[in-house]
Order: sequence, then structure tokens, then C-alpha cells
Amino acid sequence: MAATEVDVFANEEKRNLELGGHVGFDSLPDQLVSKSVAQGFCFNILCVGETGIGKSTLMNTLFNTTFENEEGSHYESEVHLRPQTYDLQESNVNLKLTIVHTVGFGDQINKEESYKPILEYIDAQFEKFLEEELKIKRSLYNYHDTRIHICLYFIAPTGHSLKSLDLVTMKKLDSKVNIIPVIAKADTVSKSELDKLKIKIMSELVSNGVQIYQFPTEDEAVAEINSSMNTHLPFAVVGSVEDVKVGNKMVKARLYPWGSVQVENENHCDFVKLREMLLRVNMEDLREQTHARHYELYRRCKLEEMGFKDTDPDSQSFSLQETYEAKRKEFLVELQRKEEEMRQMFVNKVKETEAELKEKEKELHERFEQLKRMHQDEKKNLEEKRRELEEEMNAFNRRKVAAETLMGQALQGCSQQPFKKDKDKKNFFSLPSACSLTSGRNLN
Ligand code: GTP
Ligand code: MG
Repeated sequence: MAATEVDVFANEEKRNLELGGHVGFDSLPDQLVSKSVAQGFCFNILCVGETGIGKSTLMNTLFNTTFENEEGSHYESEVHLRPQTYDLQESNVNLKLTIVHTVGFGDQINKEESYKPILEYIDAQFEKFLEEELKIKRSLYNYHDTRIHICLYFIAPTGHSLKSLDLVTMKKLDSKVNIIPVIAKADTVSKSELDKLKIKIMSELVSNGVQIYQFPTEDEAVAEINSSMNTHLPFAVVGSVEDVKVGNKMVKARLYPWGSVQVENENHCDFVKLREMLLRVNMEDLREQTHARHYELYRRCKLEEMGFKDTDPDSQSFSLQETYEAKRKEFLVELQRKEEEMRQMFVNKVKETEAELKEKEKELHERFEQLKRMHQDEKKNLEEKRRELEEEMNAFNRRKVAAETLMGQALQGCSQQPFKKDKDKKNFFSLPSACSLTSGRNLN
């Protein structure tokens, strides 16, 4: 609509018109109801409590059915969440119910991080919804909304008050989800102790600034019941899926050797109050609070984180295009900075490697020179030795030639004398050696 048109309508005075007859727009609420009924509803419950505290039993009792029940072990190394979704129908109303259990809660020696997986799960569901909302082609009409509408926090009935784990967890979750604290297995505590425990828990929650869900009192139709129920918090509940005959009626109860605890008897526990508040009176408010308060907060923080804002510092109206452009520029600058950083890192690395290689090359060169010198020295030594050997060989040959000459002369001298006797013959054979000995001595 053009701005001028808006101004015209704004300046126009409203006139009340009388209708001449039935037109039909009074059926709008009925149209909405039938549309909602056809669409069906989603409701998601998060049960936070120690292993074996009675979470599954309470859910079964609450919806009067038996959900799949997997018993948890006390040896989980960390907390994790197990969501299970069921399609339920009551009259003509379809409900997609998701029950999320905390598995291993309170079983670790160090419980400091126990709240984290719960918080992450809640945020992840908000994120999924936000992503769907921001899609160009979104289908919120048939979107399975998994955002947690209520967190039932199970408090152990055994202690004197809340444990640190309870306080820390509830404090961390209170801005993310509607919390209703319940005292589990309330049949194990006496009435007077239970009253004291309730007062103690509420005062501890208040003094630690934990915001639990308050049943709304704005709507006149439910203001009275809701404000009275607010005073009964935390609800002391008992769960059972056992049907027991009491008088001539079958009721849900827990049987003990001394009697029975009836789940739906308001003198025995607050189970009925919880069911009334959770399902019959405030289910829609819980869904609305989740969307309008908790999701809205998440969405606002997330969009602000992404650079979106409603008004800029000069109070000019918000422009999606400008925000997008500004964010894009910011992103590009960041990208360039990162690229430059990477490039510089790469250059430095190359330089370092180059220097290392040069150093190695120098070392190798030195080693080569050293080897070369060693080789040359060795060669020189060998040459020297060869020369000496050759000289020795020459000297030897010279001596050999001289000896042969002498021996030749000696033989010539001997052959000129006649052979007289055998004795002389013997002397003749021994003569060359005598000659050679003599000649050898002479040479030296
Ligand atoms: P995990 O899923 O294993 O963590 O346990 P859970 O918290 O779902 O507990 P579950 O409902 O399985 O109950 C554990 C035990 O407590 C069972 O033996 C139940 O019968 C018992 N129990 C459940 N609710 C109550 C209750 O209100 N009072 C008493 N006295 N016992 C209960
Ligand atoms: Mg269970």
C-alpha cells in the first residue's frame, strides 16, 4: 500500500455501522478452530531428572497410555537426550507429542557439564525453526515443530532441599524454556515433610533467581484456578500405570503392604493438579510462551549476531537490503584479510623451506669437498707407495742381473779345470752357491 493511502486511512475517523442482517464473519473463530483441528497440534515435553526418578512412569500416567520405555543405566559417561514422537488422538483432535528424556542425568561424578546437552538440544530446535522461517520457500504450515514447550524438572524427594545440580540446571534453562518443577515419588515423603520441602524449594528458587513458569492469571476465565495453582508449586507427584480396585472402582494407584496411594486422589498427591494445569488449562499458553518469549529471545539474539537490527544508530528505518550489503562487505573484508593471512603464511613457509634446502645444499657441498680432499690424499699416498715399490723392483732387478753375470763368470772359470775325482765333482756342484754368496756380499 502506498504511504499516501495509509495516511488517508489513518486520518479517517472510524464509523460504527449497523448491519442490516447476518453477514457471517462471526463464524471466523469457528473457521479458525476447524482449521486448527484439521491441522493438528504439536506438543513437546522435556523430562529432566535423574535416572530412575520416575519420568517414564509419570508420562505414561499423564497420557494414560504406555510409551516405549527403555530403562536407563547408571553408567552413562555423559548426559544425552532421547526424543520420541507419538501420534495421539483424543476425540477428533490429533496431537503429535514428543517426549524428550535426559539419559544419564546426575550419574556422572563430575556433573558440572550436565546441563550443556540439554541447553544445546533446546537451542538446536530453535535453530531448526529459525532456519525454516528464513527459507525462501518455507513450509511452516506442515512443519514439525520440535521446540520444547515445557520442561518438567523432577526433584528427588529424598533430600532436605534442592541439590546444586538442580539449581544450576534450572538457572541455565529458565530463559530458554518453561520450567515446572515437580517433586517425584512424593509417596515416599510424609505429609508434613512434603509441606516443608515445598516451601524450602520455592524459597531456594527465589533466592537463586530461578524463573519457573507461572500459570497465567490475565485471562479471567482461568485467573482464579491458575493463581491458586501457582501456590501449590512445586507439584508433588506420584506415577503409576497399575489399575487397583478401591471400593468398587478401578483406579490408578501404587499398592503397598499397608495400603495404596491413589494417583488421582488430590489428598494423596498433586498429580491431578499437574495434569489439569499442563494439559487442560494451560497447554496453549505453554505453546504461546515458547513461541512469543523463549523463541523470540533466541531469534533476536541470533539475528543481532548475524548483523540484523531494527534501527540503525541514526534512527533511520531498518533496511534488509542495506544490512545485507553491509554484512556482505564485512564478510568480504574478512575473507580478504584471511586470504592475505594465508598467503603470507604460505610465503613464509616457502622461505623457511628454501633456507633449509640451501643449508642442506651447503652441508652436502662441504662434505663433497672433504671427500674429494680425502680421495686426493689417498691417491697421492698410493702413488708414493707405487713409486717406492717400482724403485724396489728396479733395485731388485739390478741385483738379479748382477748376480746372474757373476754366476755366468764363475761357471766359465770352473768349466776350464779338468774333472779329477768324485770329491771334486761334489765341490763343482756346490760352487755356484758359493760364488753367488761371495758375489752377493761383494755387491752389498
Ligand atoms: P530412566 O528412564 O531409567 O531414567 O528412569 P525413569 O526416570 O523413567 O523412571 P521409571 O519411570 O522407569 O521408574 C523407575 C522406578 O521408580 C520404577 O520401579 C517405578 O515403578 C518407580 N516409580 C515410578 N514412579 C514412582 C512413584 O511415583 N513413586 C514410587 N514410590 N515409585 C515410583
Ligand atoms: Mg525412563
